[in-house]
Amino acid sequence: MNRSERKIVLITGARSGIGRACAEALVAQGHHVFGTSRTPPSETSGFTFLPMDVNDTDSVEAGVQSVLEETGRLDVVINNAGFGYGGSVEDTSVAEAQAQFETNVFGPMRVCKAVLPTMREQGSGLIVNVSSIGGLMGLPYQGLYSASKFALEGLTASLRMEVQNLGVNVVLLEPGDIHTAFTANRRHTAGSQTSPVYQAGYATALSKIESDERNGASAEVVGAALVRIVNLHAPRPRYVVGPFYEKLAVIASRLLPSRLFEKLLMSNYGL
Ligand SMILES: NC(=O)c1ccc[n+]([C@@H]2O[C@H](COP(=O)([O-])OP(=O)(O)OC[C@H]3O[C@@H](n4cnc5c(N)ncnc54)[C@H](OP(=O)(O)O)[C@@H]3O)[C@@H](O)[C@H]2O)c1
Repeated sequence: MNRSERKIVLITGARSGIGRACAEALVAQGHHVFGTSRTPPSETSGFTFLPMDVNDTDSVEAGVQSVLEETGRLDVVINNAGFGYGGSVEDTSVAEAQAQFETNVFGPMRVCKAVLPTMREQGSGLIVNVSSIGGLMGLPYQGLYSASKFALEGLTASLRMEVQNLGVNVVLLEPGDIHTAFTANRRHTAGSQTSPVYQAGYATALSKIESDERNGASAEVVGAALVRIVNLHAPRPRYVVGPFYEKLAVIASRLLPSRLFEKLLMSNYGL
């Protein structure tokens, strides 16, 4: 790979799961990768770790600045950092909902705002926002997670049209169930632990959600998809990645009558 093909890449949440797999896949292709974590590990896997908390504007700006000071440019940014809240919508406090949006929506927004001036000046760049199949259909007992990913979908689709003529590409990556630390890192709303109304339904749905994630595709599948996207001259607006039956579910959600699709989804979660 010559110097002009070697891209400078920044990936948020690269310590584990999808972010780490994407970082390792891009390093294997010869790209210069910076990965972020709130608590960067001392060991490296061929890429540089930076401290960054996407909930904090100063932290995001400092992280982006340190990449630019070292390299002078930024070609690819992957907004991957995120987590999921579980629990019924009624049991979710506004503070819990705000925490979910802070990381999954305002986090990527902060990063986009920090990198866009450089990409506009370069007249080139690629931003990949990691959404979810949960950003394409509401998932029971993951209402605020779905809402945050729906919001990220809207923000990304709008941004894509605003910066396309400035040479910047913006893409949505929508993974299905992927076997990562996401399952262990899921937060449960305080109300979901005690709710007399929803506790049983949540327990049933959660055991299916967790089993689907544990049996999901490997993070390396997402890393391989990302490498393909990075190598494209004109990437599509969105890419669904994951087990075949979940890609089928996305197609079914568009083709089936909405009441029938909802029934199938509810029965999948034992509701
Ligand atoms: N796994 C799935 O089934 C699945 C499906 C669809 C979409 N996704 C999406 O894929 C993305 C990656 O998830 P994953 O499955 O790889 O889970 P993961 O292994 O838990 O990784 C999530 C990463 O996000 C980082 N993070 C969380 N909050 C952060 C914050 N405030 N600031 C900076 N970094 C933060 C964590 O880094 P540190 O703790 O090191 O800071 C961690 O490395 C998420 O956006 C998730 O919504 C996952």
